[in-house]
Amino acid sequence: MDKLLISGRASLKGEIKISGAKNAALPIMASTLLAPGVHTLKRIPRLRDVFTMTELIRRMGGSVHFDGVCIIDTTKINKFEASYDLVKTMRASILVLGPLVARFGKAKVSLPGGCAIGARPVNLHIRGLEKMGAKISLEEGYIFATARNLKGTKIYFDIPTVTGTENLMMAATLAKGTTVIENAAKEPEIVDLANYLIEMGAKIKGAGTSILTIEGVPELKPPSEYEIIPDRIETGTFIAIAGACGADIVLQGCRIDHIDAIILKMKDAGITFKETENGLRVIGSRRPQAVDVKTMPYPGFPTDMQAQFMAMMTIANGTSIIKETIFENRFMHVAELKRMGANITIEGNTATVRGVKKLKGAPVMATDLRASASLVIAGLIAEEETIIDRIYHLDRGYEELDKKLIKLGAKIKRIK
Ligand code: EPU
Repeated sequence: MDKLLISGRASLKGEIKISGAKNAALPIMASTLLAPGVHTLKRIPRLRDVFTMTELIRRMGGSVHFDGVCIIDTTKINKFEASYDLVKTMRASILVLGPLVARFGKAKVSLPGGCAIGARPVNLHIRGLEKMGAKISLEEGYIFATARNLKGTKIYFDIPTVTGTENLMMAATLAKGTTVIENAAKEPEIVDLANYLIEMGAKIKGAGTSILTIEGVPELKPPSEYEIIPDRIETGTFIAIAGACGADIVLQGCRIDHIDAIILKMKDAGITFKETENGLRVIGSRRPQAVDVKTMPYPGFPTDMQAQFMAMMTIANGTSIIKETIFENRFMHVAELKRMGANITIEGNTATVRGVKKLKGAPVMATDLRASASLVIAGLIAEEETIIDRIYHLDRGYEELDKKLIKLGAKIKRIK
């Protein structure tokens, strides 16, 4: 298992390019199952979760090639299954369920089960498909779904689930009649998926708002090509890095309109932003100011930025209160940050971070994707060396984070 060795007290400067959004790439790749033919997708990031989705599609009889762009051929899909060994490594595998039932009328998808950041059920995905007429049974850890013809209906989500909205929106594109999803999630990744579906011929209105209306069509066809949006969480992670290290960096190709909440909180923490010709210049101050945050569905402050923001707050001037409202167990990084000298206490879903002057390098363990990113940030600001174990979590969702940081001047080694 790879580890990262980080020499701290990093002084970072320079430019890096923001990759395509993992959480847009995954549903858009799954959506190719809806339309037989060759799909050409640009800016798909080369990271582990994308390779897992690639393997899922290949095992169903599709082909996937990376040749600068990502080319997926779904003409010969003839198996409708996502097996446990893949789903257990990536919960987002559940995204194939809606497309398979909609196009082929059957699917067998392993239940994702619990994960490091909480129980994360998929009941809302299942209930929505049932409302659309699918017959669903749970047997031996698998979801078995069949449907002659999905039919349009009205769905209300108790919680605005991101992949749930994506799954049902994809299923509804080929259903008979009109589906309305109320209290839908509004993330930019959902809008990106909707845009790709629309390019394929789907009739969708309201993406990016809490009411989605999808009028079913008989078939979808791959468009000539499509470029996915840049990753707003990677962008936010680099902003947190700049804020924590007092760095001066330029993020090329990011979408500022997708990160309003992040930018406002980071400005409060003392970070300066300048839009330049080739991107967003981010200038950290000598020491960040303590700022409180509460994670919320989009357009609120993203849960996927909570751990990185907390790492930055460990050395802030003052005390920061961080509330996690989306997942019940997303403070796994706290114990590791404390090993490096951070002063954090947790009560329920609230962490109180009392800023200290410095952190000290230590051996630490990555527990999930964003927790790993927070440990990288802590390693960059700490004195001496930090070794991060289990960085396969980091590789799941960041495209070459270590290489990008080395380009900015960080001293990082990957130990195989
Ligand atoms: N929920 C239910 N029932 C469901 C579905 C969700 O109770 O059927 C609950 C969850 O337990 C959670 C809340 O609803 O408390 C929101 O979860 P959501 O379904 O929105 O999360 P997700 O779709 O599984 C996506 C991202 C996550 C991101 C969350 C929240 C993808 C592939 N994953 O997950 O990304 O944290 O939305 O924004 O889009 C990451 O990239 O590190 C990551 C974990």
